Amino acid sequence: MQRTSQHGNWSSRAAFILAAVGSAVGLGNIWKFPYEAGQGGGAAFVAIYLLCVFGVGVPVMIAELSLGRRGRGSPPKSLELVATDEGRSKAWSGVGWIGTIGAFLVLSFYSVIGGWTLYYVLTSAMGGLENITADASGALFNGFLADSMGLIGWHLAFMAITIFIVARGIQGGLEKAVTFLMPALFVLLVGLAIYSVTTGDGAAAIKFLFAPDFSKVNADVVLQALGQAFFSLSLALGTMLAYGAYLPEDVSIPKSSFIIAGADTGVALLAGLVIFPIVFAYGLEAGAGPGLIFVTLPIAFGQMVGGQIVGTLFFLLLAIAAVTSSISLLEPVVSWLEEHRGFKRPVAAITAGGAIFTVGLGTVFSFNHWAEVKFFGRTVFDNLDFLTNNIMMPLGGLLMVVFVGWFVSRKSMRSELHTINDDQFNIWYMMARYVCPIALIIIFLSVIGVF
Ligand code: TRP
Repeated sequence: MQRTSQHGNWSSRAAFILAAVGSAVGLGNIWKFPYEAGQGGGAAFVAIYLLCVFGVGVPVMIAELSLGRRGRGSPPKSLELVATDEGRSKAWSGVGWIGTIGAFLVLSFYSVIGGWTLYYVLTSAMGGLENITADASGALFNGFLADSMGLIGWHLAFMAITIFIVARGIQGGLEKAVTFLMPALFVLLVGLAIYSVTTGDGAAAIKFLFAPDFSKVNADVVLQALGQAFFSLSLALGTMLAYGAYLPEDVSIPKSSFIIAGADTGVALLAGLVIFPIVFAYGLEAGAGPGLIFVTLPIAFGQMVGGQIVGTLFFLLLAIAAVTSSISLLEPVVSWLEEHRGFKRPVAAITAGGAIFTVGLGTVFSFNHWAEVKFFGRTVFDNLDFLTNNIMMPLGGLLMVVFVGWFVSRKSMRSELHTINDDQFNIWYMMARYVCPIALIIIFLSVIGVF
């Protein structure tokens, strides 16, 4: 069954790979991964993370991109069409709904944090981090979080950039943005890593990231690593379904998935090589948690020679990575509005972006006015993070691999994955049918507290 996408198509394999790597590489790599590795004991976390990326993440990505390309619609539509082709219930479109709603919710808080990166670019560029002490850095960050109007302004600015790009379409917007931004990101990242490893404590950083101490590994670390792998690879929340829908028939999905996962992992490790040499050289705390980038690192930028430039470039890198991911979170929602409401793309982008911006206010207020407003003992932001990361992502991923492994015919999947040989296909099929579902069921049960 050959369909065409009403939303547009990638002009080439390279354009698709750039866009998908742009989606995968984001705050997850540069903000979350280093602090999670820092808290999870460094190399042991990294080793488990690699296992999760290639053992579970890649097979799920192959499944997700395949479903998108077969359906060629918005996530719910693609799932519904593939289910109909296979004589299965239309209720499978629910998997696409988990994706679309999940992308909506993730973007609502992702954009708020994207706004922080813009603020820090400006603050650093204007010399606001010069000679900053540890206390002053904490106070700067806390003061920023306490100012709800400021946060709203930066959240709005970030969302406006995202809407602007998505409104211009697949080739005119997303592709153009990534062909310009991804090389910039790469140059910044490699440049900063070289600078950091040579001027900071590169040896300590390399040991920290690559010499594992497995005594630090427990079930929580494994859970966190798998969750981080899914988030970092942009899995299970509609992005890869939407991006797959615009993919030319002759592009190899398995090969692309390995390239995307490899690039994403490479960037996460390079981000570690930017951050930890500085952290160690200045005697800072590697396990500082979410504040590692926004509170800890500025202390070093404030002291080092040329720190104003290095700090500005670092936050610029972070902002670019965030934008090329946020557009991929808006796309599933926009494609759905185009189909189901018949909206033109710019109208769909503004409508979806406006609604997401509004929901994002809940996250903004979680840091100030509503800091004490808790449901299930968590702020609005923590609830959104928990719901998307710990429930919707494992559930969406599980349903997707179960669908392709058990409800779509083997013949259909074989024809979708036509570029690999039988042995390679069989390995993937085994992973999709058994290994991934079992891993995801364990994750899911442990999240909901069965063990
Ligand atoms: N992967 C991105 C990051 O690392 C975030 C992201 C984009 C995402 N699209 C997604 C996460 C879809 C989950 C699902 O920052």
